[in-house]
Amino acid sequence: MINNKNIIKLDKSIVFVGLMGAGKTSLGKAFAESLGVEFVDSDAVIVEHEGRSIEQIFEEFGEAYFRDLERKVIIELLQDNEPKVIGTGGGAFMNPDTREVIIQKTTSIFLEAALDVLLKRIGSGEGRPLFKDRPPKEVMPELIEARYDTYKKADLSVSTYDEPLQETLNRVQQAVYTHLTTR
Ligand code: S3P
Repeated sequence: MINNKNIIKLDKSIVFVGLMGAGKTSLGKAFAESLGVEFVDSDAVIVEHEGRSIEQIFEEFGEAYFRDLERKVIIELLQDNEPKVIGTGGGAFMNPDTREVIIQKTTSIFLEAALDVLLKRIGSGEGRPLFKDRPPKEVMPELIEARYDTYKKADLSVSTYDEPLQETLNRVQQAVYTHLTTR
């Protein structure tokens, strides 16, 4: 098991991609802590920047506005070349410009989860704009279909199950360690 911050030395940032409920934020935070580096959630940066929730941003300005903001925020976060861990919103990696920057400048990790795991974690979907008109059980299969092939373009894919966070974290640490030492 790799869980010593002296073992994994990041030369570039780690970016988590994947669907809502995959655990990008909770795992990102835990991984950053295990490495002793900063964790940043791009959605949280957007909320702070706009002084509004993601739901309000979608409602007042529309999804296209949010996607553009997301692209700018992620590019900005990667500008200082200071290795950190970034959790992105589920749509970020679907934007070709954002994806290109993530692929060029970071080690990206697709957190892959099965539909039942995602649905269990998402619950009613309250506060998430993509479930404003239709429930998670209708929307999520469509998002899996539309997005998983693109998410697989990330450098690494790590599966996450209905399990304690530490177990997924062990898998992430192992995958990153192997990736960084066998390039
Ligand atoms: C979205 C995912 C959300 C948030 C927005 C849109 C998406 O982030 O950015 O509601 O398109 O998948 P999380 O994946 O962090 O929930």
